[in-house]
Amino acid sequence: MKNSIEKLFDLTGKVAIVTGGAMGIGKGIAMRLSEAGAKIIIVDIADKKEAKSILKDISENGGHAHYIQADLSDMGTLKYIVDQTIKVYGDIDILVNNAGVFTYSPVTELTEALWDKTINLNLKAVAFLSKLVVNKMIEKKHGGKIINISSIDSIKPTGNLSQYDASKGGVRMLTKAFAKEMGKFGINVNDIAPGGINTPGVKKIAGANLTDAQQKAMDAQMEQFVSMLPLQRMGEPKEIGNAALFLASDASNYITGTTIVVDGGLLIM
Ligand SMILES: NC(=O)c1ccc[n+]([C@@H]2O[C@H](COP(=O)([O-])OP(=O)(O)OC[C@H]3O[C@@H](n4cnc5c(N)ncnc54)[C@H](O)[C@@H]3O)[C@@H](O)[C@H]2O)c1
Repeated sequence: MKNSIEKLFDLTGKVAIVTGGAMGIGKGIAMRLSEAGAKIIIVDIADKKEAKSILKDISENGGHAHYIQADLSDMGTLKYIVDQTIKVYGDIDILVNNAGVFTYSPVTELTEALWDKTINLNLKAVAFLSKLVVNKMIEKKHGGKIINISSIDSIKPTGNLSQYDASKGGVRMLTKAFAKEMGKFGINVNDIAPGGINTPGVKKIAGANLTDAQQKAMDAQMEQFVSMLPLQRMGEPKEIGNAALFLASDASNYITGTTIVVDGGLLIM
């Protein structure tokens, strides 16, 4: 029994690309997939110094990881990422499109620059990196798993994040569209919609350019928000890693084109 369950979640011999894996949710996902035996390619805009902690954690745990520093919103880098992955580990079995930016703007102040910045990274890069990766999977005739990180904001807008919400709504529909076309090649495409996860990105938006008084008010708002969550706490990156492990493993082989919400009950608040 134990052996068959371990086998179900065993990713030994698999190669996974995790975008935005230097910190936050991507780091939690990279760690979980590595613990299950996958070799990890971390792609992130952060310099190698910032990515050092995840690379160290993986290697100390007996895993293998390689770092590619790249700006995913530059479409010119996407082919390089795929080519480097093949060069370093020989194949690609799993792609986790996690990198994303939270950008704040009331709709009355929305600028084209903010729209482009958000859509280019959160949606366009997901489409075009996935396109390159599924083509490799089709060429190699071994199927694979694509896991996109959307957001609860793709289901219910928080407010003052319209460009972000549109990008994440796009990711959810892109997931379904890719899933429909890729099923016949044995490629499963799903997304995870996180909400309320404790990460540097969430802390940054909560603390962006605030005066002491504003910061106090924001902290109080945050405390109230957490107390209203059905599970009464923020989630941790590894808890998104758990859902990613399920979607990357054989345990989810008959699941495609769907969304797993991991939000401590935020959507039913
Ligand atoms: N934290 C949450 O509660 C939450 C909720 C809903 C959705 N999400 C989504 O989860 C994903 C990860 O969020 P997070 O909270 O861990 O964010 P984060 O800001 O803590 O981490 C994002 C990572 O992406 C990298 N990155 C940013 N821009 C990049 C670029 N242009 N090219 C390559 N890498 C880049 C950053 O360096 C960082 O390592 C995002 O797509 C986000 O929208 C998070």
